[in-house]
Amino acid sequence: MDTIILADWLSARLDRSATEPMYRQVLELMQQAILTGQLAPGTKLPSSRTLATDLGIARNTVLHVYDQLTAEGYVTSTTGSGTYVADTAPRDGVAGKKARAEETKAPCTISRRGERLIAQAGVSPKQWGAFMPGVPDVAEFPARTWSRLQARLWKRASPELLTYAPGGGYRPLRRALSDYLRVARSVKCHPDQIIITTGIHQSIDLAMRLLTDFGDRAWVEEPCYWGVRSVLQSSGLTLVPIPVDDEGLNPAARDMAEPPRIALVTPSHQYPLGMVMSLARRRALLEFARQHKVWIIEDDYDSEFRYGSRPLSSLQGLDDAGQVIYVGSLGKMLYPGLRMGYMVVPDNLVDSFRTGVAELYREGQLMQQAVLTEFILDGHLTSHVRRMRGLYGERRELLINAIRARFGDSLPVRGDEAGLHFVLDLPDFADDRTIAATALSAGVVTRPLDNYYLNRLAARKGLMLGYACVPNDQIAPQFARLAGVVEQALSSVTSKPAVTPIESAMTK
Ligand SMILES: Cc1ncc(COP(=O)(O)O)c(C=O)c1O
Repeated sequence: MDTIILADWLSARLDRSATEPMYRQVLELMQQAILTGQLAPGTKLPSSRTLATDLGIARNTVLHVYDQLTAEGYVTSTTGSGTYVADTAPRDGVAGKKARAEETKAPCTISRRGERLIAQAGVSPKQWGAFMPGVPDVAEFPARTWSRLQARLWKRASPELLTYAPGGGYRPLRRALSDYLRVARSVKCHPDQIIITTGIHQSIDLAMRLLTDFGDRAWVEEPCYWGVRSVLQSSGLTLVPIPVDDEGLNPAARDMAEPPRIALVTPSHQYPLGMVMSLARRRALLEFARQHKVWIIEDDYDSEFRYGSRPLSSLQGLDDAGQVIYVGSLGKMLYPGLRMGYMVVPDNLVDSFRTGVAELYREGQLMQQAVLTEFILDGHLTSHVRRMRGLYGERRELLINAIRARFGDSLPVRGDEAGLHFVLDLPDFADDRTIAATALSAGVVTRPLDNYYLNRLAARKGLMLGYACVPNDQIAPQFARLAGVVEQALSSVTSKPAVTPIESAMTK
């Protein structure tokens, strides 16, 4: 392109009615022309005065464009001799002609583990409303109290609160959390053992990076939370699904014959099915871990919300050998977007974990951590959790009543003693994945149990229903919409001609 054509080429592309400033438009067009080779290396650009006149724009605008192009290396200019397009095309050589030819055939793509992560991703575009599992009622969060505490702290914000967090997080918060965990969850800990993270995902990611090597075996409950499964798989671990029964994790002799490096469990409220790991199984798991040097990760994600009895003691509280790493989250007690969680690590790991968390994630958010400390010390956490437990208990009951009224005992509910969700069992012939997809298009979020199994052929059929973030008066009408989808799906299966599936489900 010669210089006269440059003015024509730009003129044809400038949008003089656009809100985007003329300077930006000319700059981006010229960068594009240089990168694509339309303005070849060595081409002399017109003087700023000429180009400004040809385009009918201010000369200053062109001068700014030329300055910016010079600063970014697109052109070179020498006083007196003019402005020339710089030669920035990659040279042949290591990344030469051949490599570039290959690239045009097969565009760069993500790695195999990246592909796997994306293919198995379970995250939903909708994070709120009926019947999103695992989400608390964020509208009930005591925002005024939080903002008052926050404003007070910002008024005397010391530099230490605005820097990166020292490994492990804000010490007063670690002290407050260790007091809370000792009393509320029977966790054996002192403040130094607490590491503040951005939530359970990060706690587990950190533990995997520090405690496992690529290819190590990891026991996961079958079924288990897909998010944590993704973290483990991305760390290059080999996942071994271990079935759960009414007493929790139930490894077979052949599983025990090949001890894993780590075992990830949800003993207080199995996710997603909801059973509690029995004391006998807890003791057996701890003994197995001690003998075979297995790390146990105890994911205690929502056990503050237990209806009808006090929260159960943690597995970590029974551990005398320092094999358990306890991880918890403030996302369900406060609000998920807070992204704050904690881990309790055995004494001999404290230094490594403090260094690891600072090294890998360069933690910050000390101001938020300070606000949370005041929130806990002033008693707001306890009273908020108590109030929410009452509210979620009502919602849980309303949803169970709506299910009973529509389906009687034909579609049982499981895992409803704790947490923010339960499972609505479906008959074996049901396609829970399709039902959840149809419900979503009708505006109701549910998760099919199928999502949580590594071996989908062994999956029970059911829907996870979260009730915590649904206002009381919305529960019955929203469930009616879902029930319509479920009924329609079950009755349309025609594999049993003598008795319709819905009849057979209902007479079970
Ligand atoms: C079993 C389980 N573990 C961990 C998490 C995630 O915790 P966080 O938000 O703290 O990363 C969830 C979220 O729903 C969960 O269900």
